Amino acid sequence: MTSVLITGANKGLGYETARRLGELGWRVFLGSRDEGRGRAAAQRLAADGVDVLMVPLDVTSQESVAGAVRLVREHTDQLDVLVNNAGTPGGGVNPADATAGDVHVVYDTNVYGPVRVTQAFLPPPT
Ligand SMILES: NC(=O)c1ccc[n+]([C@@H]2O[C@H](COP(=O)([O-])OP(=O)(O)OC[C@H]3O[C@@H](n4cnc5c(N)ncnc54)[C@H](OP(=O)(O)O)[C@@H]3O)[C@@H](O)[C@H]2O)c1
Repeated sequence: MTSVLITGANKGLGYETARRLGELGWRVFLGSRDEGRGRAAAQRLAADGVDVLMVPLDVTSQESVAGAVRLVREHTDQLDVLVNNAGTPGGGVNPADATAGDVHVVYDTNVYGPVRVTQAFLPPPT
């Protein structure tokens, strides 16, 4: 069975991706930075017959990413597909007013997040 981890899958495009891949019979690891929202989303998919496990995962936190790796490895020794979906548009701040802090959140999520998650889930070198 093909397995997939989707970051930020509690809503939006991530949730829809989870739903459609689940429909195809894939095993879905549903990443969510908020456990309550993630659990609710996973319950909806499970009610439709999807093989789904909610994985607490904040892509801006190395500790959270490491916890997600441990949890997924408890359930499978091979993750086939990673969908780096989690993202933020930022606060809609006018570029002339954007502080380094405003931009940091966007880069930490949209740029460094996928790097953190991808590196953490790569299989160890043989
Ligand atoms: N929709 C579009 O037209 C469009 C166009 C171009 C690119 N994209 C990209 O496609 C992706 C999904 O878009 P969408 O429209 O479905 O967005 P969305 O509805 O805002 O969903 C974004 C998801 O990312 C999660 N997320 C945000 N920060 C996170 C973090 N630090 N760690 C883990 N999860 C985090 C959100 O969690 P919470 O629910 O906790 O906030 C949510 O689950 C994004 O990367 C977006 O930039 C979308």
